[in-house]
Amino acid sequence: MLDFSFISPTQIVFGRNAEDSLKDEIPKLGTKVLLHYGEGSIKKIGLYERVIAALKQANTDYVELGGVIPNPSLALVRKGIDLCRKEHVTGILAVGGGSVIDSAKGIAIGVPYSGDVWDFYTRKTEITTALPIGTILTIPAAGSEASTGSVVTDEDTQSKFHCGSDLIRPVFALLNPEYTFSLPPWQTAAGAVDMLTHVMERYFTNTPHVELSDRLCEALMRTIISNTPKALSNPNDYNARAEIMWAGTLAHNDLIGKGRQDDWASHDIEHELSAQYGVTHGAGLAVIFPAWMKYVHKVNIPRFIQYAVRVWDVPYTAGEEEETAREGIRRLEAFYVSIGMPIRLKDLGITDKRYEIMAEKAMRFGTLGGLKKLTKADVIAIYRQAEQV
Ligand code: NZQ
Ligand code: ZN
Repeated sequence: MLDFSFISPTQIVFGRNAEDSLKDEIPKLGTKVLLHYGEGSIKKIGLYERVIAALKQANTDYVELGGVIPNPSLALVRKGIDLCRKEHVTGILAVGGGSVIDSAKGIAIGVPYSGDVWDFYTRKTEITTALPIGTILTIPAAGSEASTGSVVTDEDTQSKFHCGSDLIRPVFALLNPEYTFSLPPWQTAAGAVDMLTHVMERYFTNTPHVELSDRLCEALMRTIISNTPKALSNPNDYNARAEIMWAGTLAHNDLIGKGRQDDWASHDIEHELSAQYGVTHGAGLAVIFPAWMKYVHKVNIPRFIQYAVRVWDVPYTAGEEEETAREGIRRLEAFYVSIGMPIRLKDLGITDKRYEIMAEKAMRFGTLGGLKKLTKADVIAIYRQAEQV
C-alpha cells in the first residue's frame, strides 16, 4: 500500500427529507447565496419551491442563476462570476447534478481570482481559495457532491477540462433518494456507468497489498450492478435509489482510491467525446472503458481475473487465465447493454473518426494512465477498439 493523506470534510445528510437540513447548513455559505441550478428539473420535481422556502425561513439573502446544461459551459461560469461579484455573494448553493455542482465550483474559484477562471482548467494556476459550496443532489452519477474536481467545457474551442483541489469539496451535501425517482432511464443508467467507472479507474492498479480498498471497490461495484436494474424497472424503489445514491458518493470521494495508484485514462479519453459530440459522460464511458480494458488487460492479467471472479462471479479455470479475464470484460459489456447503454462508438452516432485530434487534446498535459502509460498511438488505438464488436 502507498502512503497517503486524506480529508473528506463534506457534511452528508442522507435520506427522506434530507433537504429539511438546509436551514441548519445554509449559514456555512455566509450571508448571501447564489442559488445555481440546471434547465428546469428541480422545478418539475417540486424541489425549487422547497429550497426557496428554506432560504426565506433561514432569512438568507439570495440571487439565482439557472440554465446549467449537461457538460457545463465556461460561458455560464463566467456569467456566474460576474453576478456573484456584483451581488457580493459569499457562497454557492448548487441544486442538481454533477454539471450544476461543477459549474458552481468554477464560479467559486473564479470569484476571488483576479485572472480568467479558465486558467485553473488549463493548469496555468492553482486553486488557493474558493467560496464555500453546498449542494442538494438530484442525480447520483458524477460524485461531485463530495469530490475535489470540477469539469467545464469551453464551447468555443470544444475543450472539456478538469481542475481539482480539496478547497472545492462542498461543505455540505443533502441527499434525498426520493428526488431521483424522476430520473429518466437514460440518466439513471448513465449515472450507474459513471460511478462504476469511478470505482474501476481506481480498481485497475499495479499497486500490491491493497486488500481493504479492493474489497471496498468490489462492494460498491456489486451494489451498483444489483440495484441499477431494480431502479430501472421500478423508478420509485426507494431502497434501490438509496443504495445507488450512497454508492455514487463513496465511488468518488476518493476513500477507495487511497494507498493505490489510479488510472483515469478512460476519463480523459471520454471527455473528448463529450467535448466534440456533446455525449452524455456516462454513456461515453460505457463505450470507452471496455475498449480500454481490452487494450490494456494483458499488462496485469491477475487483476483482471480477480475482477472477473469477484465482481462478476466468473468461474476461474487454471490454464485459462486470458479467457477468464476477457469474460469479465464481456460481462461488463453485457450489463451495459442490459441497462440500455451503448458499447460502441456507432451506438453513440459517432462514425467520423476524429481520433487524431481527440487523442492530441486528451494528451495535452502529458501521458495518460496508471495501469499502463498510454502514448498518443495507444489512445488512437483505444478509439479504434471502441468501433469494434
Ligand atoms: O438540467 P436539469 O433540468 O436539472 O436536468 C438534468 C440534466 O438534463 C437531469 N436531471 C438531474 N436531476 C434530475 C434530472 N432529471 C429528472 N429528475 C432529476 N432528479 O439530468 C441531466 C444530466 O445532469 P448532469 O448534472 O449533467 O449529470 P451528471 O451528474 O451525470 O453530471 C455530468 C457532468 O459531471 C462531470 C461530467 O464530465 C459531466 O460534465 N463529472 C464531474 C466529476 C466531478 N466533478 O468530480 C467527475 C466525473 O467523472 C465527471 O467527469
Ligand atoms: Zn466520471
